[in-house]
Amino acid sequence: MKIISTKNYDDMSRKAANILSAQIILKHDCILGLATGSTVEGIYKQLIMQNRNGDVDFSGVHSVNLDEYVGLSGEHNQSYRYFMETNLFSQINVHRGNTHVPDGTAADAEAECIRYESLIKELGGIDLQLLGLGHNGHIGFNEPDDKFPLLTHRVQLKESTIKANSRFFEKEDQVPREAITMGIKTIMQAKRILLCVSGTAKAEILKQVLSGPVTPAVPGSILQLHPNLTVVADEDALCHL
Ligand code: GLP
Repeated sequence: MKIISTKNYDDMSRKAANILSAQIILKHDCILGLATGSTVEGIYKQLIMQNRNGDVDFSGVHSVNLDEYVGLSGEHNQSYRYFMETNLFSQINVHRGNTHVPDGTAADAEAECIRYESLIKELGGIDLQLLGLGHNGHIGFNEPDDKFPLLTHRVQLKESTIKANSRFFEKEDQVPREAITMGIKTIMQAKRILLCVSGTAKAEILKQVLSGPVTPAVPGSILQLHPNLTVVADEDALCHL
């Protein structure tokens, strides 16, 4: 595991974006695993600038997103497809057909999970997976549990996650209760993982993730076992380590 400490959120965003663009420069047709959330917004802003400056070219890149809310279509302004469109895809030269997010409106959610898992395999696996961290230690939407869910699956969100994510919705009861998420094995099979964390509110959970016991009660703790994990976190997030 390599931990890169940054001065603040902006510094984290620039350093993480540079790691992603280096990956694309080294392999122009790489498969990127992408994430949503406030943590990654700054990273995507940096990537947009680098793309405009001609420093990084997304024309050969394929992307697979970690997760999506069940019941929200890509047009819903709180869906993760919509987040990706507005915060990244519409502003870079990626081919839209090469971008993938689980379909939250699939009539058969279980079949959608199987399709998504095979899609990642057919693409040849994820070269670099970007991750944020939930306040309860979740990665993607793999919530604390008594076992690690392996493959892409439908998940019941924890009350704490619904609360945390309600800041994006008008009312808490509008937050979907379920999601489709890549599983822990899906994530761990990525060749490289880039975990980004910012702020004191995540300091305690980041400490548990990086130096506590590996347990499904803290899903992100499994990352300690990944052979190629890079953590880019600001000083606030790293203050308990
Ligand atoms: C959501 C996403 C996660 C993300 C987490 C943290 O629940 N499913 O992939 O890492 O939120 O989000 P934020 O970066 O906004 O704190």
